[in-house]
Amino acid sequence: MIIKIKYFSILLTGTFFLAIGSLPVQASDPAELHRSQCISCHAKMTGGDGSLIYKRDDRIVTTKSELQQRVAYCAQGAHTDWNDNEITAVSNYLNELIYQFP
Ligand code: HEC
Repeated sequence: MIIKIKYFSILLTGTFFLAIGSLPVQASDPAELHRSQCISCHAKMTGGDGSLIYKRDDRIVTTKSELQQRVAYCAQGAHTDWNDNEITAVSNYLNELIYQFP
């Protein structure tokens, strides 16, 4: 019995550290956040690689602050649980990659 409990707590501790270890990686990489939580829905809408939605002629985002708002809106709609830092990071990432607003 005691051996079983010990084994279980080692398992628990291991899972705990694994979870902690994976957090900063997810939070600090906007490219990965965007890839994992944003692209598939846009790709379904536009076909292709999903970035077409950012480049379409009648795109709805025309300034940097609109971009930030749209990222926040979509992030909420997609139930990502992103915090403000993550929203800003992905918004900056998309701006550098595609929109290039000053
Ligand atoms: C469930 C589907 C869905 C998901 C998931 C989603 N989006 Fe969107 N996104 C949309 C739709 C629909 C539009 C277009 C809205 C329109 O045309 O009025 C859009 C448009 C956008 C635009 C504006 C494109 C333009 O016209 O300039 C940005 C920026 C954007 N999404 C960012 C994101 C980001 C960042 C994420 C990841 C958190 C994300 N989206 C996840 C559905 C989604």
